[in-house]
Amino acid sequence: MSQNIDKQAVADSFSKAAHHYDQFAQLQRDIGEQLLTSVPNKNYSMIVDLGCGTGYFSEKLAHQFPRGVLTCFDLSEAMLKQVKKRNINKVTFQQGDIDQLPFTENSIDLIYSNLVVQWSDDLAECLQQIKNSLKKGGRGYLSTLLGGTLHELTQAWKTVDKNPHTNQFLSLEKIQAILKQLSVDSVILKTETRTLHYKNVIEVMRALKGIGANHVHEHQTQAISGRKLLKQLEVGYLPFTNKQGLLTLTYQVCYIEIIK
Ligand SMILES: C[S@@+](CC[C@H](N)C(=O)[O-])C[C@H]1O[C@@H](n2cnc3c(N)ncnc32)[C@H](O)[C@@H]1O
Repeated sequence: MSQNIDKQAVADSFSKAAHHYDQFAQLQRDIGEQLLTSVPNKNYSMIVDLGCGTGYFSEKLAHQFPRGVLTCFDLSEAMLKQVKKRNINKVTFQQGDIDQLPFTENSIDLIYSNLVVQWSDDLAECLQQIKNSLKKGGRGYLSTLLGGTLHELTQAWKTVDKNPHTNQFLSLEKIQAILKQLSVDSVILKTETRTLHYKNVIEVMRALKGIGANHVHEHQTQAISGRKLLKQLEVGYLPFTNKQGLLTLTYQVCYIEIIK
């Protein structure tokens, strides 16, 4: 499945969130930590943090692999500015798009990418470019989101209007099929369900906006306003309320390891 994502709009959303991203990114932290535990300790010389965001994991990668030269790569200039404030050693910065990777073929030892490739136009093509960028024996560690992610919010909005208010994510089967076509030495895929809870729908929306993940492809992002609409959304969310009265929000996470 390929889609035509408005990259400028995605960059703008993430750029707006760049200053406060770290306050809202606990889930991203937890998933990124999990991903990092699968990266074996080796002497990587060229490392890329693909879609580095504010550089939380760039800093960790630089610390864990001090011999390597790290490239922090992101679509959003404002995100890269946040990384610069961290003063990481031996780092270069590159603004760019995961769908048009600028790296020389067979040049990278390790690509780490936490919760980014779900923003790709075409995952098959993006993974092909990642593979091409890796040296023989090079490793890619990626996390992404699967179908079923944010399904409660999707269902709740459907009771309000017919517009898309959440993005669609690829199914596990689709990602498995893409990886099968990739022809690399080894692929490991793991999945995990993570469930978050919020007091009300405003908090749910704020959490997505807080990390800049509120751009909905092919739909003008709307702020929810108006008591009536909010009430409707709250009623639509009722089936996804737990015993404590908290709203459930599910993330279906997929961890991918590629060895070229
Ligand atoms: C959810 S954040 C994750 C950031 C970081 N990896 C982390 O774990 O904190 C997604 C990041 O991907 C970047 N991004 C989105 N679409 C991109 C694209 N097409 N090319 C490169 N980066 C992109 C965003 O600017 C944002 O910094």
